[in-house]
Amino acid sequence: MEEDYDLSKPITSTSGLRQGLTSYGDAHFSLFLRKVFVKALGYSEDALSRPIIGIINTYSGFNPCHGNVPQLIEAAKRGIHLSGGLAVEFPTISVAESFSHPTSMFLRNLMSMDTEEMIRAQPLDACVMIGGCDKTVPAQLMGGISANKPILPLITGPMMPGSNRGKRIGACTDCRNNWAAFRAGEIDIEEISAINEELAPTIGTCGVMGTASTMACITAALGMMPLRGASAPAVSSARARVAEETGANAVLAAQNKWKPQEILTKESFLNAITVLQAIGGSTNAVVHLMAIANRHPKVQGVITLQTFEEIGRNTPLLIDLKPSGDNYMTDFHNAGGMLALLHTLRPLLQLSAMTISGQTLGEVLDSSPFRDFPLSRQIIRPLSNPLYPSSSLIILTGNIAPNGAVMKASASKKRSLLTHTGPAVVFENSADLAKRIDDPDLDVTENSVLVLKGIGPIGNPGMPEAGLLPIPRKLAAAGVKDMLRISDGRMSGTAGGTIILHVSPESAVPESPFGIVRTGDVIVCDVETRRLHLDISDEELKARIETRKAESVRDAKPRHRGYRGLYERSVNQAQDGADFDFLAADGDRVGS
Ligand code: FES
Repeated sequence: MEEDYDLSKPITSTSGLRQGLTSYGDAHFSLFLRKVFVKALGYSEDALSRPIIGIINTYSGFNPCHGNVPQLIEAAKRGIHLSGGLAVEFPTISVAESFSHPTSMFLRNLMSMDTEEMIRAQPLDACVMIGGCDKTVPAQLMGGISANKPILPLITGPMMPGSNRGKRIGACTDCRNNWAAFRAGEIDIEEISAINEELAPTIGTCGVMGTASTMACITAALGMMPLRGASAPAVSSARARVAEETGANAVLAAQNKWKPQEILTKESFLNAITVLQAIGGSTNAVVHLMAIANRHPKVQGVITLQTFEEIGRNTPLLIDLKPSGDNYMTDFHNAGGMLALLHTLRPLLQLSAMTISGQTLGEVLDSSPFRDFPLSRQIIRPLSNPLYPSSSLIILTGNIAPNGAVMKASASKKRSLLTHTGPAVVFENSADLAKRIDDPDLDVTENSVLVLKGIGPIGNPGMPEAGLLPIPRKLAAAGVKDMLRISDGRMSGTAGGTIILHVSPESAVPESPFGIVRTGDVIVCDVETRRLHLDISDEELKARIETRKAESVRDAKPRHRGYRGLYERSVNQAQDGADFDFLAADGDRVGS
């Protein structure tokens, strides 16, 4: 277009190809050059005059959870082009759970930075963000909210369940159940090998209510994607139609400049937390939601761990899916998925919250009625007949967790452990655990409290999902299925047991009260009063902390270089989301 070369008129547009020009000191030349190069790809001036919709391609040979990304891109492009936009795909890093060393969580913040900066840097009017595996969706929401251009999450969707000896199995709750049975000698090597072949029979995210599925449901509850987008299987035609719809929605969002910091409000997060409690979602989602909320200038500090606790007290667990229940994500989808769940939860929701469709959540539900049927009520229980009455996820505090700890009470396998007093058996770190947990001479009984330190955000960068400490083999062989376990790390969303996680401040912080727990100390856990207490005097607690602080100065290790060094210097604690302090909404005040 000739006006692009009219040197008497400044380039002021903040949309399409004219936004965010590369700095060469001459804006007209920058635009001229950009058009030179984009035309190398064969685009016409007509195509380039449309709203430009970026599509983040997170396909990777190391990410089977994203195996359908090429098909989703094709379908999203169709939706964009049919609606008059121009689709342009681009890559960011892709993070898969079991292919990331030391942990995928270590890379979540890196992916969020990549997402934020590429959305900000490139001339796009809206962005479809294809994610799915555990850390990818939070990373994209964090980055997208910070970039604050219209963003539309598109999730890859859950895998199908597999089968072993006529019984349905699926990643990854059944990975853990069967591995525990193998450790206890209940199944043999042939059977565990056969099970290994069937746990992930298709591409897609884990097929239970683990972290990936939880984040998918939460993203829908935040109003950021079509409700069916939370559960349609990765290999279904429904998933491709969600992708096409997302493409069309992206053009609408671009035209209306619906930015995430305007769409998302405190009410959106209250809805997300209500859904998290109702689905018995992953404990990881607490960390992720805190990180996401803290990227939003108007929500940071408004949503805290106590928000989860308060909402939990009024929200029953309604979804009968593993690990809290018995079924798989495909069952949830067939039972009506998020549409059925949100209709059920309607009295507890903030219906005025806006969604990316341009409608409020109330309007979305009004325009999409749901008639339940017997099977749907088995999977998505009515409020009058919940699976667990309230507080699926709870927040504990006490002298060893002054800034909080998280427990999925609904996933406890032995309810009596929810109120339990027992002697601690302490492991200083993961290596110590690996060395001693199966030692036949380990002084441990089923009433002991297993404590694992050193797996918090700083202590073992990325806060590994090692919080599900294995039952010592000698106890497992004697039939012990659950024990009270406490750590400053995380647990897979697909896991279950009486597990206290995310103890803050973590033990790697010299002042951490959790860091001073010793083998033989008595620990009191009382879920009723939300109390986690080490039974020693305040004076003794303070004296131990002072000694430890002096030791930590003496034993200080040199800092690492590169990303790990940045991580260690900048990661905040679990209750703030384990984000980098400088990436939070108030990150410009870090160090000031
Ligand atoms: Fe990717 Fe579970 S490993 S979602």
